Amino acid sequence: MAMVCLTDFEEYAKEHLSKATWDYYAAGADECCTRDDNIRAYKRIRLRPRILRDVSVSDTRTTVQGTEISFPVGIAPTAFHCLAWHEGEMATARATETLNTCYITSTYSTCSVEEIAEAAPNGYRWFQLYVYRDRKLSEQLVRRVESLGFKALVLTVDVPYTGKRRDDIRNQFKLPPHLKVKNFDGVFLETGVPEEYGIPANTLDPSISWKDVYWLQSITRLPIIIKGILTKEDAELAVEHGVQGIIVSNHGGRQLDGGPASIDALAEIVDMVQGRIEVYVDGGIRTGSDVLKALALGAKCVFIGRPAVWGLAYKGEEGVREVLQILNDEFRLSMALAGCRNVAEINRNLIQFSKL
Ligand code: FNR
Repeated sequence: MAMVCLTDFEEYAKEHLSKATWDYYAAGADECCTRDDNIRAYKRIRLRPRILRDVSVSDTRTTVQGTEISFPVGIAPTAFHCLAWHEGEMATARATETLNTCYITSTYSTCSVEEIAEAAPNGYRWFQLYVYRDRKLSEQLVRRVESLGFKALVLTVDVPYTGKRRDDIRNQFKLPPHLKVKNFDGVFLETGVPEEYGIPANTLDPSISWKDVYWLQSITRLPIIIKGILTKEDAELAVEHGVQGIIVSNHGGRQLDGGPASIDALAEIVDMVQGRIEVYVDGGIRTGSDVLKALALGAKCVFIGRPAVWGLAYKGEEGVREVLQILNDEFRLSMALAGCRNVAEINRNLIQFSKL
């Protein structure tokens, strides 16, 4: 079967993964309103293309945190890549290294950060971090990824508790015995506490607050990017707390159901931030024109979550490369058809606000 667009990979993954694995990747919280709206919201946005602008040469490169990447699409942190492909995150790392884009590695990887760094030594990577009740756990991870050359920390702030994902509960989702959250190998002793997604259920700290951003700054010199902001008020607080970036995200609709589609939250955040730090977005990006719309609304770069996992399920490293390449090709085409020769020419004039 020819793989033409990202939904082809979705169909393949649905057909070939076990039901419990598919359900885990696909899951949204509760009734999945926010998850589904992430996709639909892009389809509501209409573009205002410009014509006769000589688009014979086009350039999709951009920078994030001062580093050049080949196009403004990176990989969002998603857990447990070995469920989709035996080489897991090592395959993802190689694919992103080859295509020269940013891979945000999840704390909950099924390969260790050392294995990932070794698999793709020249890859550009950020590390996604949670704050644990035991701060030493987070601190040790920071030390490890700093020494491995990860270039930023992505602090995920929308999981004081894990959202209620009905299918995972019905399936009693558990990592199969041959897989582990490798970054915590040997850390958790048998405590009798029930396990949630591969680690003891009470490990995350629900008391996390803005003062923990200062704490994180006190233990690292890496740029800090906050993932999970959906309002201008929190965006302003992020800037005031001196972080270097924001990922507008609702965690792929897996946390608070009823929150906004991330693309619908983007504009107010970009307006509040006024270019003081970079703003990125994830959630629901499935086509090149989705990428164009997000950039037109002010995102510096977008990140894809589930589509990367579908690529892995299809053909490992090669599958992730194909997913990224298709998005790159579609983005280049959309840009040209809208009259943009490079990312600097993408701006709000491309959006038909009267339709929103
Ligand atoms: C996630 N996401 C996520 N986020 C994070 O900060 N740490 C993590 O470990 C995970 N794990 C994870 C697993 C799976 C299976 C999914 C689908 C998502 C959220 C992820 O980074 C991102 O916000 C969304 O996936 C973006 O939405 P799309 O692209 O999947 O629609």
